[in-house]
Amino acid sequence: MTDLIRLSLSIEKTLYERLENLVQSAGYSNRSEYVRDMIRDKLVATKWNSNSNVIASITLVFDHSMRGLSKKLAKVQHSHFKEILASTHVHLSQDMCAEMILVKATVSKVKHIADTLRQQKGVLHAEVSMSALGDELN
Ligand code: NI
Repeated sequence: MTDLIRLSLSIEKTLYERLENLVQSAGYSNRSEYVRDMIRDKLVATKWNSNSNVIASITLVFDHSMRGLSKKLAKVQHSHFKEILASTHVHLSQDMCAEMILVKATVSKVKHIADTLRQQKGVLHAEVSMSALGDELN
């Protein structure tokens, strides 16, 4: 368990009220935990560069009736088998599919994989979500 320290700080009343609204609307019962998470978000945002290692999910929405698309998506993923840890396929409707691909790689590699998948004809949406591996967040 990390040692806790107490700190006090001075902020404008309006800023304080906005913080309280954020804490409440995000469903936090505890202001300190909200501020800790804000600091962690900032740490992640400032520390990352293209060579940083991250864990990421790439979510694709695509039309599987597009000729050859499923095969192409599988081919791209096989060419990155060292970085792709897992994937899950969800059938959204008669034609539409979603695939969530879990990747552990550098930021630039994740972006490259996502861009390559996104560019395939029939892929309608691709969203990338990255997280730190955790060591720097304690
Ligand atoms: Ni499907």
